[in-house]
Amino acid sequence: MPTREQIINFGPGPAALPTPVLEQASKDLFNYNNTEMSLAEISHRSATANSIMSNANSHLRQLLSIPDTHEIIWQQGGGTAQFSMVVYNLAAAYVQRGGNVEEMTSDYLITGGWSKKAYDEAVRLGLGKVNVVTDARKYNDGKFGLIPAEKDWTFTPREKCAYVYYCDNETVDGVEFPAFLQSVDPNVPVVCDMSSNMVSRKVDVSKFAVIYVPPALILLTTGWSTKECWNSRDYNSYRSKRHS
Ligand SMILES: Cc1ncc(COP(=O)(O)O)c(C=O)c1O
Repeated sequence: MPTREQIINFGPGPAALPTPVLEQASKDLFNYNNTEMSLAEISHRSATANSIMSNANSHLRQLLSIPDTHEIIWQQGGGTAQFSMVVYNLAAAYVQRGGNVEEMTSDYLITGGWSKKAYDEAVRLGLGKVNVVTDARKYNDGKFGLIPAEKDWTFTPREKCAYVYYCDNETVDGVEFPAFLQSVDPNVPVVCDMSSNMVSRKVDVSKFAVIYVPPALILLTTGWSTKECWNSRDYNSYRSKRHS
């Protein structure tokens, strides 16, 4: 059998974790911080659990330079759950800021399988209209594989637009946006799926309303997703006390 060090794991999700991290996690799973209790046995409402979350939040905030304007939210359901949560929450935020429900439109950039799935879910839920800003397949013989030029995108005007949605890195189709969208109206909330590239480069979080990341792919183990989000099923109900 090869050793851990000899294995090069290119798996996009779950991805490889550093050996010292796994060693510490194994110890903590058996005996957390000399409490003689497993991390899996302590109350999720205890001071210990709160302090673990608090540390995770402040480290994540530091690592990703998340500004104070944005909350970090931990939820179950992985990335797929966000396809519908985004719709509910951003539609509610649109109404809250005085948007006209009759005209409400969500804008989707379809550049690969994952953004297509998110778009399909928005259409299925039927909260307002769903506009395709661009569909990469139209420019590439029906296949994904490129990002159409921004001059050919058609955004919904700001007052009717609940949000703009895109996937920064299409894991399966190998399409990554080189930078933030240049032509998006800065007053429209931008939602981004950064499931498979969040910690791979510096991101100006302040430009986004919501970024979501299922840590199974890049940060943690399966089942969770984190989110940096200005508004917050109801993101508000998941908001932690601010730990920073
Ligand atoms: C870009 C992207 N979005 C969403 C998902 C869905 O995440 P999950 O498998 O946690 O539902 C994935 C999973 O690979 C992904 O790569």
